[in-house]
Amino acid sequence: MSNINIEKVLSVKHWNDTLFTFQTTRDQSLRFRNGEFIMIGLPLEDGKKVMRAYSIASPNYEENLEFFSIKVPDGKLTSRLQHLKPGDEVMVSKKPTGTLVVDDVKSGRNLYLLATGTGLAPFMSIIQCPETYEKFDKVILCHGVRYVSELCYQQKIMEELPNHEYLGDIISEKLLYYPTVTREPFQNQGRLTHALEEGKVEEALGLDKLDPEHDRAMICGSQAMLEDLSKMLDGKGFEISPKMGIQGDYVIERAFVG
Ligand code: A2P
Repeated sequence: MSNINIEKVLSVKHWNDTLFTFQTTRDQSLRFRNGEFIMIGLPLEDGKKVMRAYSIASPNYEENLEFFSIKVPDGKLTSRLQHLKPGDEVMVSKKPTGTLVVDDVKSGRNLYLLATGTGLAPFMSIIQCPETYEKFDKVILCHGVRYVSELCYQQKIMEELPNHEYLGDIISEKLLYYPTVTREPFQNQGRLTHALEEGKVEEALGLDKLDPEHDRAMICGSQAMLEDLSKMLDGKGFEISPKMGIQGDYVIERAFVG
């Protein structure tokens, strides 16, 4: 039996020249935990296929799947994926997995979701998950990007979700958002690492200082970002989840490109 489902593209949204989102059908048997990733692929001309890991950006109770992707000019997959149109077919593996799940984070006061670039994708799923809000008082979504145009999903985060039919009340009470931009003027400027080191996030949102006794984190970004933020959290006394299924003060996952 094949380990791949063929799904149909339902819609594609281009945010700017470098980022896009697409939705596909979802096989009824596909189960996943919010925050997990899955392999996505397309057939190549030579009969082979190219598959890459993508975080699922939609919550697991939704009928369809959503993915958030960068366009890498020479990327074997993304150079093709960016031309997807509704009705096209994509390959989706049947085995979602990953370490970025709320189950593997201890309960606590505030949950910091720290993303750069397309590292936002798994958190779009996690912030639409009711269990996230049951486990924490506040959920702080931090998104660091180079340019303002890369602050994707802002309307969903700031308007749609707080007005959501079922989750709107809890989201407007608990979800906080801290976007920051590094390469052009914006209300918050600089890397997330610096913002956290200097206590800017807590200050801007009126929160108590980041504290390993009470607070938890989930991190998704480039390798360098993961290393720097892990080092910063370790330095403050946070303990990483040692492996899947074992809880820690924080968990990490690479944002996948290529
Ligand atoms: P910068 O503009 O200073 O490089 P990228 O697209 O390269 O993944 O970067 C996305 C965002 O993450 C950018 O704002 C970038 O800042 C920032 N960034 C890059 N490396 C790190 C890091 N090691 N720690 C924190 N933020 C980082």
